[in-house]
Amino acid sequence: MSTNEVAPTNHLSDHQVTLEVNEQAVVLNVPAHRTLLDGLRDELCLTGTKKCCADGECGACTVFLDGVLVNSCLVLCVETEGQSVTTIEGLSTNGLSDLQEEFLNSGAVQCGVCIPGQVVAAEGLLRTNPHASATEIRDAMAGNLCRCAGYERIVQAIQVAAGRRVEIT
Ligand code: FES
Ligand code: FES
Repeated sequence: MSTNEVAPTNHLSDHQVTLEVNEQAVVLNVPAHRTLLDGLRDELCLTGTKKCCADGECGACTVFLDGVLVNSCLVLCVETEGQSVTTIEGLSTNGLSDLQEEFLNSGAVQCGVCIPGQVVAAEGLLRTNPHASATEIRDAMAGNLCRCAGYERIVQAIQVAAGRRVEIT
């Protein structure tokens, strides 16, 4: 093959991956190098999960994988066989979640690019530490960057949502 020829797509090299996404069984046929982030966005059209650095640095692509927060840009689809993924869409199947409402109420949503990852990360925090202090919130959210620098409003939103949950229980 000359250097100008494009190699034909080899679908035989795709891998079949069966997983659950937002409580729905899903089968993906993907090359071994396809990240979970790209699988969610490009194969399943779940574009709420954002692609920014694609290098594990910004947290915009945060999802739950078997209940654990991960940067989906650092996970391969083929590694998720038999596992369960929850994205931002899966946290808002009945309308906006309390966290989403409080992000809006506090004015934390500016360009919005980081917000899905922030909300998923905050959900993970409140599930494990429902009474998180402001310092604990800042520490837990340190891996989620906001270029609009709305950090104080994000902390405030999480605190208010946490208070709402405590009131309900
Ligand atoms: S896009 Fe995954 S951490 Fe930035
Ligand atoms: S709201 Fe713009 S990056 Fe966070």
